Amino acid sequence: MSERKSTSFSSKVGLIMAAAGSAVGLGNIWKFPYIAGENGGGAFLIVYLLCVLLFGMPLIMTEFLIGKRSGKSAFGAFRALNGNDRWQWLSWLCMMTAFIIMGFYFVVTGWCFNYLFEAVRHTFDGFGTEALTAHFATVSSNTPRMIGFSLLPVVLTAAVLWFDVNTGIERLSKLLMPLLLLMMLLMAGRVLMLDGSNVGMRFFFQTDFSKITPKVIMEAMGQCFFSLSIGMGALITYGAYMPKSQNVTGTSVQVIILDTLVAILAGIIIFPAVFAFGFNPAEGPQLVFVVLPAIFEQMSFSWFSGVLFFSLLCIAALTSTISLMEVAVAFVCEASEAFANNGKKKHGKAFNRHQSVLIVSALVGGLIVLCVLSMTGAFSGLTFFGHNLFEWFDEVTACIMLPIGALGMSLFVGWCLPKNGEKGVLHADKGIKRWFRKIYIFVLRWLVPIAIILIFLNSLGVL
Ligand code: PHE
Repeated sequence: MSERKSTSFSSKVGLIMAAAGSAVGLGNIWKFPYIAGENGGGAFLIVYLLCVLLFGMPLIMTEFLIGKRSGKSAFGAFRALNGNDRWQWLSWLCMMTAFIIMGFYFVVTGWCFNYLFEAVRHTFDGFGTEALTAHFATVSSNTPRMIGFSLLPVVLTAAVLWFDVNTGIERLSKLLMPLLLLMMLLMAGRVLMLDGSNVGMRFFFQTDFSKITPKVIMEAMGQCFFSLSIGMGALITYGAYMPKSQNVTGTSVQVIILDTLVAILAGIIIFPAVFAFGFNPAEGPQLVFVVLPAIFEQMSFSWFSGVLFFSLLCIAALTSTISLMEVAVAFVCEASEAFANNGKKKHGKAFNRHQSVLIVSALVGGLIVLCVLSMTGAFSGLTFFGHNLFEWFDEVTACIMLPIGALGMSLFVGWCLPKNGEKGVLHADKGIKRWFRKIYIFVLRWLVPIAIILIFLNSLGVL
């Protein structure tokens, strides 16, 4: 613990940027457009925004408060606050969710690195709609290439955690966010000038209420948790790093606004282009990778724009993978320490941070190889209920594991812990006004758990 405390963030802005760096990532730019495209565009957007309003604020605040009050990562926080092991299953769930998300997230990050590499080499200059779609299929089915490109970001993420360079992340995020937003604004401006872009805007912003099905609601809730990094303890870690004087409410609002802005901007870039160039909005996970190169073709300084955007995308992905891997690394460190010191007899030595980074990287590397093989390699024939491993990892974490994690945390803080007074979680932030505390507790106790359970039941067809 002392090791982690020494690496507190140097400024409040730095922490906001790092938490936003965790939230803003492939979830906004890769996943949001493809899930929205598959689920009816405008119908999905409206349900997504409602989920952000209902779940975003109380749950981000909850994770920050758990971290800030306990000063611990997802492994130690529940025990430290509760004084017993009854909620320890939540730490295990957080750790497992982190691993499974990493299993597919690094593969998509690998696609980004591959496209960056190709953008530098002009590979897709002059490609039309069909050639771009075929190109993605060729690239993503090249097993050794995909394994190589997916393991590259694992090494980079491990290096950041190895050297414990939070100030580095902080500086990187501070530079990245404004640059990413600026670049996306420029791209949106260019795309909106394309002939036929209004069809895409209508698809994205016009709500056809008949398209809101239980599946759309479930997907929107899952996407909200995934995009805001809620439900697996990543933000508990950042809460533990928070300077005492930092205001939890304000930080949460800023992270939510930034994350939602980037997702909507991604939609404004992708959908008009999809319709203007004749792509299919329900293309699936490859959507942005086939559409983006077509957009750069249309931009002035096309080589520079492509290289800059894919670089920013890779960095945005890395600031998210850092927060994912940190959960697993802290877990291995602290769990092995707890095991080693358990009882009177010594059970060997605990793993230090470096050993934990190596163990986690090796395990994640294994998952990634399995995931790539399930898409294109030796196991590609192996599907369960029509989905390969990659699709399962993506779906199960967003729609099942993150919501259960979030449900657990809302019940833990809402019902189990004292709220006010010296021992209360809200003691971690004395700046929260009384009326706001009341609303927060009410929403956390009732609205959040009931909504999650109803959405589950609804999607199972029980309601
Ligand atoms: N929120 C990240 C993104 O949008 C992904 C993520 C999920 C990161 C869960 C940490 C925890 O890309």
